[in-house]
Amino acid sequence: MIRLTVPSIENDDIQNVIDVLKSGYLVQGEKVLDFEQQTANYVGAKYAIAMSNCTAALHLSLLCLEIKTHDLVIVPAYSWIATANVVELCGAQPIFVDIEPNTFNINPEMLHNKLTELMANKEQAKRVKAIIIVHAFGQMANMRKIMNIAERYSLPVVEDAACALGAKFDQKSAGTWGIAGCFSFHPRKAITTGEGGIIVTDNIEFSNRLRALRNHGINPNSLTTDFVFPGFNCRMTEFQAALGISQLLKIEKILAARKKAALYYDEILRHTLFQTPYLPSSCTPTYQSYVVLLPRLVSKKRQMIIQLLKNKGIETTIGTWHMPLTTYFRSRYGYQPGDFPATDDVFDRSLTLPLHEHISQEEQEFVIHELTSIVQKM
Ligand SMILES: Cc1ncc(COP(=O)(O)O)c(C=O)c1O
Repeated sequence: MIRLTVPSIENDDIQNVIDVLKSGYLVQGEKVLDFEQQTANYVGAKYAIAMSNCTAALHLSLLCLEIKTHDLVIVPAYSWIATANVVELCGAQPIFVDIEPNTFNINPEMLHNKLTELMANKEQAKRVKAIIIVHAFGQMANMRKIMNIAERYSLPVVEDAACALGAKFDQKSAGTWGIAGCFSFHPRKAITTGEGGIIVTDNIEFSNRLRALRNHGINPNSLTTDFVFPGFNCRMTEFQAALGISQLLKIEKILAARKKAALYYDEILRHTLFQTPYLPSSCTPTYQSYVVLLPRLVSKKRQMIIQLLKNKGIETTIGTWHMPLTTYFRSRYGYQPGDFPATDDVFDRSLTLPLHEHISQEEQEFVIHELTSIVQKM
């Protein structure tokens, strides 16, 4: 089977985990602190707070911003469901904004229009509290435009950079543009800790509050155990952090291999009916997923295409989710097809192709050959 993804785990990664397991110190030790420091250095942030996963990272970031019942938080319509779920889990309401059809990221013009509309109503304006920006599949959103808009309305920006560790926009790292940047170390990301996440920030109060929220509400700066507010347990284990440390040492090598494979797909997909990922010149992506758009004529047959590819030993999947049209958000807020036309189209047509550090050009050629012949016969 040509797998959709294969985590880049090597012998030294395994040895690092074994060393921790043998040490008897499995939680709350120096590995987590070390991993946090290395990650902060890597992205160029002052602080990093390791988490059990990126969903927790996003949720706790919103709690730190005191997002609560009746608040409104702007999110793009197209993302993994956690991006919108965390808003609901704070009791607030996500306000979805459509995406750009080529980058799959939030459309800055539409973000501006939506905020202008919300701010025109005094009661609603008071409820708008934050913006979550997603860097879809490791390609950054236009953070220059977005930060300008956010600053105009004094709104904090949380970056859902789950797929974007190592990505840059105008040479500035994903996760360092807003008040907080949240990363995932799920095995489908370039580097992994199994489950795992991390938040980066330059704001010391934010960092301290996150550390307390992550650890039962214990003041991280107190010499004694002082429970200063109700918190969660969203800690990362020592053996996960040990894996993260050795993975992070190789991230540039892994990203370079993924880029090479992505560019090869671009090349062999040129002059075909498939729309390849669009890359603005200001972006350095991570190619967390290589997502093509199928020709519209066959988009309704995407599930069949995925199954036929599987029969040939090729694992593929859809892109990500049209969040407003999932059962929960559709029934709660009444969204309909047509409310987010670009998301409708991308959601229907997207197909993620296999991509990982060690995929060979022969495997990639086989994927495209099979995909093309299946689609041509439809
Ligand atoms: C855009 C986005 N946000 C959030 C998450 C949640 O990350 P985790 O699985 O680490 O909770 C994911 C996971 O794939 C994601 O792709």
